[in-house]
Amino acid sequence: MQHIIAVGAVYIDTILTVPHFPGEDQKLRATSLTRRRGGNTANTLEVLQQLLDIYDGDREATEPHLHLLSVLPAKGSESANFIQDSLKGVELDSSVIYREGACEAASSYIIKSQDSGTRTIVNYNELPEMTLDEFVAKVKPITSPGTKNGWYHFEGRIPDVLLPCFRYIRSSRDHCDFKISVEVEKPGREGLPALAAEADVVFFSKLWAEDQGFTSARECLDAQLSYTKQSALLCCTWGSMGATAVQKSLNQAHTWASTDAWKSNQLVVDTIGAGDTFTAGILYGVVYAKDWSLHDTLSFANELAGRKVTQDGFSSLG
Ligand code: FRU
Repeated sequence: MQHIIAVGAVYIDTILTVPHFPGEDQKLRATSLTRRRGGNTANTLEVLQQLLDIYDGDREATEPHLHLLSVLPAKGSESANFIQDSLKGVELDSSVIYREGACEAASSYIIKSQDSGTRTIVNYNELPEMTLDEFVAKVKPITSPGTKNGWYHFEGRIPDVLLPCFRYIRSSRDHCDFKISVEVEKPGREGLPALAAEADVVFFSKLWAEDQGFTSARECLDAQLSYTKQSALLCCTWGSMGATAVQKSLNQAHTWASTDAWKSNQLVVDTIGAGDTFTAGILYGVVYAKDWSLHDTLSFANELAGRKVTQDGFSSLG
């Protein structure tokens, strides 16, 4: 079974559920307060872990296949323990970079509005970011000698560090056959298209696409065809309008798939991490479910994300 090494920041999310979004400089009483582990790649791994448990129950239980490469506060700190406890079944011990001297993990303060279904996120992170040398030192021993194929999934942050990481993977004898996927999510982060240009699978967010002036997922993906890899798979989610994906091919006969948002008669209760859940669904389809068509994979990911928003957190999605 293939290894997936996910690289990104882990947050501790403090979520205030409020009846409606507060006006500026007003007071409002929240109906609940929740603290849970967040962060795009960690959320994705939490969902993937469940999918692997259900669909591949016969795999070798002793050998972890999901790895999280992330910067955490000091080993043994309350925050680091909280994060580690939240990711059972994901390998962290050998892949995490601990910042000794730091006690606090990256934090997100999230206002979840019940009437609009929005989640407004304010982040704070003072942990120094991963460097290229740290990345190389961590990934070298992750896979057993002779493991020729596997997958790297990156949250698209710090492009100036990630681009050399991509190039290291492509040039390393042990990892050159690994595939690379990347999220292009946050508007205003310079260098994301350069990462997209070198990846095998790219996840574009609606937020990023709208900031670029696109008004639909199709329009966004059409504009990414010219500079991305010849065989890349490009995906774009569009909230209540569903999702679109295109599998590029060498002869320009690209395969497109689109799906409406998954409908349920249950209420939307938690959209935090819906995109991360979609990512898990696509990665499951392309890495493990080899015989699925593009449409099968997109529909699976779309339904998974649709089911996620009707429940709090990420449990029971497998
Ligand atoms: C959801 C999420 C949260 C985290 C924030 C980081 O996608 O990963 O869990 O706090 O985004 O940007």
